[in-house]
Amino acid sequence: MPKPEEEAEAKGPTEWNEGRHGVGPWEGPLPEGPEAEKYDPELLAEGDRRNVVDAYRYWTREAIREDIDKRRHALHIAIENFENDANIGTVVRTANAFAVDTVHIVGRRRWNRRGAMVTDRYQHLMHHADVSELMAWAADQDLTVVAIDNTPGCVPLETAELPERCLLLFGQEGPGVSPEAQDAAVMTCSIAQFGSTRSINAGVAAGIAMHAWIRQHADLSKAW
Ligand SMILES: C[S@@+](CC[C@H](N)C(=O)[O-])C[C@H]1O[C@@H](n2cnc3c(N)ncnc32)[C@H](O)[C@@H]1O
Repeated sequence: MPKPEEEAEAKGPTEWNEGRHGVGPWEGPLPEGPEAEKYDPELLAEGDRRNVVDAYRYWTREAIREDIDKRRHALHIAIENFENDANIGTVVRTANAFAVDTVHIVGRRRWNRRGAMVTDRYQHLMHHADVSELMAWAADQDLTVVAIDNTPGCVPLETAELPERCLLLFGQEGPGVSPEAQDAAVMTCSIAQFGSTRSINAGVAAGIAMHAWIRQHADLSKAW
């Protein structure tokens, strides 16, 4: 059994090289040939301090995005943004971590990017003016829409079978998923709660629901 202090010192996958602050300038001969295209000359010269997994160190933003594009899941996320929800940044960051295909913003175009921690650079984003536009787009793409909220009559997410080609739709703090969106969704799934609060933060709920889909459909042997 490792002692607690040994456990605290154990490094995780993003710390196996130079740690959480990234890496310094490239050491040794510079990359050559067709593979060299994916490297950013400035990062090679000055080091890479970005919050990216080690496999993408020194890669250009475009190369990283293209590489994730080859492995994106058939999972889409939508969040209603009629009142300028502050959780969208968190949702985008988690969507990036799970290689979600696209995050759809419904309603207001503007959203607070702070919580995204620049992950929006690597994530496809799409705007829809209203719920009917989103639903028409989803139908056209053969995506099944599942709303996530804890309103009466919901299906427990813990036991629900989520479709593989899936669009998970979240509501905002306050109003929750709009009645129009719940009506259009094939089902609404709730996350079991046991305490006093009526609901959890929408960004946290999105993380839980995305992970429920990952557990059912992702190839875990391809995770970092
Ligand atoms: C803070 S909730 C507000 C709405 C909620 N229906 C209420 O009565 O307070 C905002 C969003 O977070 C998600 N959410 C929060 N708690 C949830 C739960 N227990 N189950 C499913 N979704 C939840 C839903 O997408 C919801 O629309």
